[in-house]
Amino acid sequence: MKTVAVINGPNLDRLGRREPEIYGSFSLDDLKSRLKSEATGLGVSLQFYQSNHEGALVDLFGQLADGGIDGVILNGAAYTHTSVALRDAVSASGLRVIEVHISNIYGREAFRKHSYTAPVCEGVITGLGLNGYSCALQHLAQ
Ligand code: DQA
Repeated sequence: MKTVAVINGPNLDRLGRREPEIYGSFSLDDLKSRLKSEATGLGVSLQFYQSNHEGALVDLFGQLADGGIDGVILNGAAYTHTSVALRDAVSASGLRVIEVHISNIYGREAFRKHSYTAPVCEGVITGLGLNGYSCALQHLAQ
């Protein structure tokens, strides 16, 4: 059985309450329930993480790299646009990582158009809401 980890970065614990006009009305728990159910259907074991702390996300990549996981779905949130440390952690992990954003980062402020992590990810899905996570999960399950 494949194992996939979903990693959500800062402020995504506030989904549903945070700028719903941009990020929608669903909560992080709603996302987790949906992905768990889809993973079961795909025969995938799903791990789900969220942290507001850059170093904790870096630590997590190191742990997952040593833990024999098959793929990661990463929404690094604001750290996408700021963190060389997160990029290095993704790159050093050697893991298959799909970058996902709920909103379309290319349709928003200029500072969101650059991603430090995208070049070291297998692919990027942006602007498809929760469906982006589902697409990434299907891809990693194949
Ligand atoms: C986000 C987009 C980022 O620019 C932002 O900082 C987030 C969420 C998204 O999922 O659309 O926190 O990653």
